[in-house]
Amino acid sequence: MAQGPVLSEPLFKEMRDYFFLETGITLNKNKKYLVEYRLQKFIGPDKEFSSYYDFFQALQQDQSGKLKTLFINSLTTNYTFFFREPVHFRFLAYYLKTYGKQQNYIRLWSAACSSGEEAYSMAITCLEEGFKGPERDIRILASDISQKVLSRAQSGVYHYSGFRGELDDAYLRRYFTFHPQEKSFTVKDQVKSLITFREFNLMDPFPFTKQFDVIFLRNVLIYFSAPEKEQILRKIWEVLKEPGYLVLGLSESLVGVHHGFTTLNNSIYRKDRN
Ligand SMILES: C[S@@+](CC[C@H](N)C(=O)[O-])C[C@H]1O[C@@H](n2cnc3c(N)ncnc32)[C@H](O)[C@@H]1O
Repeated sequence: MAQGPVLSEPLFKEMRDYFFLETGITLNKNKKYLVEYRLQKFIGPDKEFSSYYDFFQALQQDQSGKLKTLFINSLTTNYTFFFREPVHFRFLAYYLKTYGKQQNYIRLWSAACSSGEEAYSMAITCLEEGFKGPERDIRILASDISQKVLSRAQSGVYHYSGFRGELDDAYLRRYFTFHPQEKSFTVKDQVKSLITFREFNLMDPFPFTKQFDVIFLRNVLIYFSAPEKEQILRKIWEVLKEPGYLVLGLSESLVGVHHGFTTLNNSIYRKDRN
């Protein structure tokens, strides 16, 4: 059987180092197959690059940043869905009910928002709790390192096959417009208008002027090793209100990682008053 281009171990190591420098993410040593598989679409006799080596050379010489974007987009994992881990949205609703009205402003952050389902679920939760943009100073920042997923998030268009049971039918009717021909749903402006989308690498300095009430940092820390996790958590600490809340993925924990947060249930962490 004909064998396609192969990614050598030394080149894989160079790619891992490059990826780490650009994103802070440590690609596991056993992920060579995944890298090979994800880059396959660009490499081969009838493709843009004839070998992984050519691809990597071009990537390093590319001044436009296009290949870097393509590389990062290809290697990040963007799995997400609406109201993933519903307990976190119940927590957000509880926060808004209990503390929301006492706040001069509310800032929420979906810090690795992928294709936007998490940020839209946050916005729907705000609207359900009666927090509407023009009446209250409430904003949601939705950011991700991958420009590809961000543009999907910004479009607010989702194919019906991507919806799972977590999204209530009543919410679908209230907050989405259905397009029968395309079998897709578009998020209504009322929801979209609460959100600002921005390309942002968690390894970069945080440039925010206002502090956040609740930050969803779900299912992304798993890609970082302990020192990078601690670095990100220190920055998160700085930009949270007191009290302010950090929400990780349900299967994630900060065991073995230094941090100053108080641990609550369900991978929720609180920054207490000093
Ligand atoms: C598995 S998705 C999580 C989506 C959503 N938070 C959830 O839990 O459903 C992980 C996201 O983290 C993003 N990501 C990875 N490294 C990042 C970094 N250094 N800065 C910002 N986002 C990053 C990826 O592009 C991807 O969209």
